[in-house]
Amino acid sequence: RQTVLTLSRFLSSAMASHVMDLPEYYQIWMEIAHNICHLINTHQLRSVVQKMPMLSINLLSSYRELRLAHLALGFITMGYVWQEEKNPAQRLPKALAVPFTLVSRKLDLPAILTYSDCVLANWKLKDPICPSLFTNYLSIIQLLISCRGFLLVSWIVEKAAVCGLKVCYRTQFFHLPVESQIPQQYFLFDYLQHVNQTEFFGTLRIFFSGWKDNPQLPNGLVYEGVNDEPVYLSGCSAAQSSAVQSFDAILGVQHEEKSAAFLRHMRLYMPPGHKQLIETLCAPPRLRDLVVPSPPLHQAYNACVSALEDLRTFHLCVVAKFIIIPGGQARATAGRCPLGGGGSGLGLGSTGTGGSNPMLFLKSVRDATHNALIPCP
Ligand code: HEM
Ligand code: ALA
Repeated sequence: RQTVLTLSRFLSSAMASHVMDLPEYYQIWMEIAHNICHLINTHQLRSVVQKMPMLSINLLSSYRELRLAHLALGFITMGYVWQEEKNPAQRLPKALAVPFTLVSRKLDLPAILTYSDCVLANWKLKDPICPSLFTNYLSIIQLLISCRGFLLVSWIVEKAAVCGLKVCYRTQFFHLPVESQIPQQYFLFDYLQHVNQTEFFGTLRIFFSGWKDNPQLPNGLVYEGVNDEPVYLSGCSAAQSSAVQSFDAILGVQHEEKSAAFLRHMRLYMPPGHKQLIETLCAPPRLRDLVVPSPPLHQAYNACVSALEDLRTFHLCVVAKFIIIPGGQARATAGRCPLGGGGSGLGLGSTGTGGSNPMLFLKSVRDATHNALIPCP
């Protein structure tokens, strides 16, 4: 029963947003968030934020409104901090820091833009009754139109994962037969063609960076009006997706300790129901233990593990294309450009926005997935 409750809470919060606007009182937040790209490009965002009135959060009346407020304030915060890449803000003004912290406490999320904001709570459909997800997706708030494909692909993966998660739970807890579902990753390539490599590397990643273990902000960020002590928070990364960690949990993938610690840390950036779902799926009865004594089930189990391994191998190629190769080129031609013009990206270099050393970490999680395969007798 506990698991059923956890899963239904998770699914109802999983793809949270159909609220596209906040009450009139919060118009200033939404206006700034919708114009964020222009305000950063013209170097006006910081002065606009400094003039923002202090708003109460008491008029946010539902979970979805809170999620939309977190999304808007999250984007404004990233823009405020990184508007000047070489001179990031070290303090967040009170009128932004206080409501963002209060909304975050209500949601049990950190006061920084998270993956659950910019992917799960950041979508609307052009035509609400059109069944095609792919042509129908629009983000509510975005930094760069040229990187639209990045959020779109992540969103498609999340949508696909919902069916997979329902299957996991039916299998583990009710031992019901399921049809196997092999992810179709090849179309992801097509959508990633719509991501401009230079702008992704030099600009988008900067705005997704955090203030934890970041040499650009060694002293973290002070949230004025909240605490005089600085806060250290990781940047926005798909490593904060609960979907892939749930598949690891159900399949019993055992990660090497450093990678496991990083993935556990990323759970702090997930909505609490998502974190709870992963923990529930890690608990006994473990699917792997049920499958091991039954050779006919090995093949089905191994097909799932192989699909996850393939996804991770594919993801490594994506990271080489979007981070490692442009990183090498940027070191050769250093220079700062504004949002939309392709910045240097050198501050972040090849470190992931979540703070990992990507190639080491991603190879380790891919190899651990491979090791979960049950050897054929
Ligand atoms: C982790 C980059 C697209 C899912 C990571 C990491 C990097 C990265 C650098 C390491 C963690 C960090 O420090 O941030 C990229 C790039 C992408 C991309 C450059 C496209 C341009 C995606 C998409 C998904 C995804 C579309 C699907 C939801 C993940 C997951 C992890 C991760 C689940 C954690 C590692 C794992 O469990 O395998 N990504 N990513 N990424 N990314 Fe991506
Ligand atoms: N996590 C992705 C990166 O590091 C966005 O570029």
